[in-house]
Amino acid sequence: MTPEQVDVVDRTLAALRAPDAFAADFYRRLFAAAPGLRPLFPPSLEEQQRKFAAMLVEIAAGIREHDDFLERCADLGARHAGYGVRVEHYEIVGDALLAALAGAPGVHWDDEVQEAWQAAYALISDVMMGAQSAALPVSSTGQPSRPS
Ligand code: HEM
Repeated sequence: MTPEQVDVVDRTLAALRAPDAFAADFYRRLFAAAPGLRPLFPPSLEEQQRKFAAMLVEIAAGIREHDDFLERCADLGARHAGYGVRVEHYEIVGDALLAALAGAPGVHWDDEVQEAWQAAYALISDVMMGAQSAALPVSSTGQPSRPS
């Protein structure tokens, strides 16, 4: 990401007036695009929406502090290995995320902003996917399965 793109991402997040409404819109778009993902999440999404928006803001705000950012993304990715998430889900999530951001009240969206967010999501999801693939596979009992 260029320093200008980091600034653009910062500005989008600062302009986001209603993070909860944005997160609700994101999950609506995600499940409309991929209904099969809904069972991976708890029945009530209220808590999840809050956590997702807060984590996104925290991670994106930390892009400037490179080491902390990488560690945070890697930890989050490793945890996602236990949620039934597969690497091919990241693209669907990225599309829903950018569409929700583009439509969020207060957010200015144009080609430059879109490119900056594509770069930011690519960075975040690459580190998450790398850590997720490295994490132990989870068996159908939900327990990590170690090679015997
Ligand atoms: C920018 C990328 C993402 C961010 C910031 C993010 C954020 C979060 C956060 C903060 C949690 C709460 C638990 C925790 O902190 O470990 C969570 C849980 C979860 N996420 Fe993500 N996530 C991302 C990508 C994805 C993707 C690609 C999927 C694929 C479907 C996904 C599916 C889930 C599921 C199923 C849970 C567990 C819900 C539960 O059982 O409570 N996430 N995510």
